[in-house]
Amino acid sequence: MKTLNSIVFHVLLVCLFSTPLQLLPQEKNNMFFATMETRDAQSLKIEHPNEIQIIRSSNGLSAVKLSHNAAEELHHKILTHGPGFIYEPSKESALANLSLKNRATYQGRNLAAKFSISQETLVRQSLDLVNNNNIAAQIQELEAYGTRYHTTNSARQSVLDLKTRWENMASGRSDVSVRIVNHTSTNMPSVVMTITGSETPDEYVIIGGHIDSTASGGNSNNAPGADDNASGIATITEAARVLFEMNFTPKRTIEFMAYAAEEVGLRGSREIAQDYKNRNINVVSYLQLDMTNYKGSSEDIYISTDTFNDDDLNNFLIELINFYNASGTHKLTYATTQCNYGCSDHYSWAQQGYDVAFPFEASFRESNPHIHTTRDTFDRSPTPNATHAAKFAKLALEYLIEISNGHSNTDPGGEDCTQTVSSFPYNASFESSFENWKQSTNDDLDFSRNSSGTPSNNTGPASATDGSYYLYVEASGNGSGFPNKNAILTSPCFNFSSLSQPELTFQYHMFGSAINTLTVEAKNSSETVWNQVFSQSGDQGNSWLTATVNLNNYSNQTEVQLRFSVTTGTGNSGWQSDIAIDAVSIQNGSTDPTPTCNALNFNDFAISSFSNQDSDGTSSVGNNGASLTLTNNTWKHILLNYDVTPNTVIEFEFNSSNEGEIHAIGFENDNNLSANRYFKVHGTQNYGVTNYDTYTNGTQIFTIPVGSFYTGTMDRLVFINDNDAGSGNNSTFSNVKIYEGSCNGSITTKNFAKLIPILGNQPEGILPNTLISPNPTSNYINITIKNNSNNALVTMNLYDSNGKLLLKKTTTENGKNHISLEKLSLSSGIYFVKIVTQGEGSLTEKILIK
Ligand code: BES
Ligand code: ZN
Repeated sequence: MKTLNSIVFHVLLVCLFSTPLQLLPQEKNNMFFATMETRDAQSLKIEHPNEIQIIRSSNGLSAVKLSHNAAEELHHKILTHGPGFIYEPSKESALANLSLKNRATYQGRNLAAKFSISQETLVRQSLDLVNNNNIAAQIQELEAYGTRYHTTNSARQSVLDLKTRWENMASGRSDVSVRIVNHTSTNMPSVVMTITGSETPDEYVIIGGHIDSTASGGNSNNAPGADDNASGIATITEAARVLFEMNFTPKRTIEFMAYAAEEVGLRGSREIAQDYKNRNINVVSYLQLDMTNYKGSSEDIYISTDTFNDDDLNNFLIELINFYNASGTHKLTYATTQCNYGCSDHYSWAQQGYDVAFPFEASFRESNPHIHTTRDTFDRSPTPNATHAAKFAKLALEYLIEISNGHSNTDPGGEDCTQTVSSFPYNASFESSFENWKQSTNDDLDFSRNSSGTPSNNTGPASATDGSYYLYVEASGNGSGFPNKNAILTSPCFNFSSLSQPELTFQYHMFGSAINTLTVEAKNSSETVWNQVFSQSGDQGNSWLTATVNLNNYSNQTEVQLRFSVTTGTGNSGWQSDIAIDAVSIQNGSTDPTPTCNALNFNDFAISSFSNQDSDGTSSVGNNGASLTLTNNTWKHILLNYDVTPNTVIEFEFNSSNEGEIHAIGFENDNNLSANRYFKVHGTQNYGVTNYDTYTNGTQIFTIPVGSFYTGTMDRLVFINDNDAGSGNNSTFSNVKIYEGSCNGSITTKNFAKLIPILGNQPEGILPNTLISPNPTSNYINITIKNNSNNALVTMNLYDSNGKLLLKKTTTENGKNHISLEKLSLSSGIYFVKIVTQGEGSLTEKILIK
C-alpha cells in the first residue's frame, strides 16, 4: 500500500533515471490524460508541479494530465506498484470517469445473488485435470521473450504466439474462435479466445490478464515479467486447456483475454471493456488474474475487496472455495486484501459498470517484491513448479464452469426433450423425413437427406443402404463445406427405461480421399457434456459399414440423447469427404443368443432392410415377439452376433399363404448378398441353398444344421420374402431357435455332417444379372441390367490394361444401357469393364476392342 511518503520518495528517485522510452506517435506530446486517486495526484503535484496538472477532482478521484517522464517512467521504473493512474485517451474521457454515477456503480450492485453452485461433477472432474507443470512451462516460455514491454517486437510476437497456442488447443472445436484485437493507445495487440455458449451465447463470462511486462531502470528490453504477469496468462491457458480436455461446452459464452499494455495504464483492457460497453455486451462476470505464482503470505488466495470489485462475485468465489474444499485434495485457503486503486485490468471493466473480481497471489503488501524489475523470473518463486499458480487455475475453473452453466434453466432436460422415443426397437431410416433428428445451430453445416449419389464424384454413397434415403454431409465448397467444417445432428430424446443394455447400430459410409471424422456422442439430461461413444476417421472405402455401439452407460435412463458429428476434410481435395449415415436403430444389445433352446424374441431387435433388396415390403412382429411376418417383396435382417460352428443349428416354424420367388433364412456377416448362406424353404426361383426347399402349406418346422454348410463369425440373420415380379407374397418365421448340437433331442448334428449344398442357378440381385456386351466390340458397350427394382445405382468403370480409368458412367436403368466409346478413340487391345453395385460389390470383365 502506498503512503504519501513513499510517493514522495519515489518521485524524488525518478529524477535519477531518465532513459527515454520508445513512444507511440501520440505519446510524443509530453503529457497524457489519466485518472488517479486525488491523494496521489496531490502528492505528486506538491513534489513535481510541472509534471502533473490536476484538471478536476471528485469523490476521491482526479482527472489529471501527466508527463510521461514523471508518471509513466516513474511508475514502471521505480515503484513496486502505483502511482495508480489510469490512462485516458482524452480530457473528456478523464473527466467522464470522475462522474458520480461511475463511482456509485462500484458499490452495492446486483444485490440479488445471481450466482449459485450447480456443476459439482464437472468442476470436480476439472480440478483433477489441472497440471501445474503446464503452467510452469508456459511461464518460462513467456519469460524467454526477454521483454514483453508494450512497444517491443517481442511483446507483439508473444501475443501472436499465444493466439496460435490457443488455436491449437481449440482445434476441432467449431464453437471456439481466437481473435487479435488491435488498439489505438498502443501498437501491441491483445488476444481473445471465445467459446460460444450453447444456450445463451450473448451472456459472457470472462477471465483475463495482461501479457505485457515492464521493468525499471531503462530495462524495457529486459523485462521477464514471470510473475507479473506470465503467471496469470499461463494460469488462464491451463484452465482453458482443461475445459477443452473435458470437451466442456458452456451454456454461456466464455472468453479468455490476454491484454496489451496494462503496465502503461491498463490500455488494452480499457479499449476492450469500452468496446464491450459500447456494444452493450452482457458480461455476467469478469475475473482478473494478474500475479498468481508468488506465495508471499500464509494463505493461498487473496481476494481483493477494493470498492470497485463486486461483493456478490467475491462472495461467490469464497463460496466456491469453501464448497470445493470438501474434496480435500484441492483445498485452497483464502483471505482478503486491497490494492486501494485500479491496480490491474479488472478496473477497466469495473469502470464500464461490469461486475469484477481479482483474486491475488498474496496480500498486496507481501506480494512479489521483484515485479517490474529484471529479477521477476520464474526461479524466484518461493514455491516450486507453479504449484501456487495451479491453485488459481482451479479457482478459475470453478468460476468458469459454474457461472457459464449456472444460470437458471427451466428445461430440466437441458435439451429439447419434446420428442421422446420410448418404444424399442427404434428404427430411423430417414425415408420421408429427418424423423425428429435436429440440425444443431452450433456448427457450420447441416446434414442433408438424399437418395442415389451425392453431387460430388469419388465421395459419398451411390445410394442408401436401407430403403431409398440416407443422411449425409456435403463437403463441397472451399471455405463453406471444407476444410474442417462441422455438422451436428441431434436425436430426439430416448427413454431407455425398458432397455437394460441399450445398443445403437447404424450404417455409415465414409468414402473419399479427404474423409475426416464421424463421431457419435451421448448424454443424459443431467450431464452437461457430450460423451463420445463412437468415432471413425479416414477413408473406409466405397461401401456401407455397420457400427454397433454399446450404450450400457445409459441403461434404463429416461432422457438420453445422441448426436452424430461430422467434420469435413482438409487440403485441396477437402471436398472429397462426404460422410453418410443410414439405418439408425436402438435395441437391447443383450439379445445375442447364448446357445439354448429359447426362441428369439423379435421385440428385442430392430428389423432392418437388407442390402439393396428391400423393395416395398413390410414386416411385423407378432405373438409377443415370437414371430416375424414379411409381406410383399422384402428382405430384412436383425443384428445378431453369432459364431456359426460345425454344430450350429437353426430351427423355426415357417408359414406362407402366398408364394413368392424366394422364402429363405440365413446368417450373414455384411450387407451384401451371399446366396450360399440362405436356406430357401419355398418359392418359384431356384436360388440359394435349396436342400430344404420342401414347404407346401400350413405351418412346417425346419431344423437346419447350418454348420454343415458353412461356419464363421456372423453378425446378422437375414429373412427373405422375395418377389421381384410382383407382390402379395408373405412369409412368417416363428419360434426361431439357434443352438449348438441338439435342443431337447431335436437333432444331432452328426446326422448331417456331410451335407452338400444344392445351390440354385437363378441368381438374385443386380450384379449376377448384369451383362456386358458385345465382346469383342468396336466403339460401344451395352450394360444390360435386370432386377434393379430399387433403382440402386450401378457404376461402370472402363480401364485400360494399365489400370488407368478412361470412363465412368452411372445408371439406375433396367435393360440395355448403351455406352458410346467413340469420343475416347481407343486403340485396339484389351480393356477392363468394372461394374459396381450398391450392396453387392463389383464384377470386372475383360473386353477386347477391335
Ligand atoms: N500486477 C500489477 C499490479 C499489482 C502489483 C498489484 C503489486 C498488487 C501488487 C500490475 O501489472 C501493475 O503494475 N499495475 C499498475 C497499474 C497502473 C499501470 C494503472 C500499478 O499497480 O502500478
Ligand atoms: Zn501485472
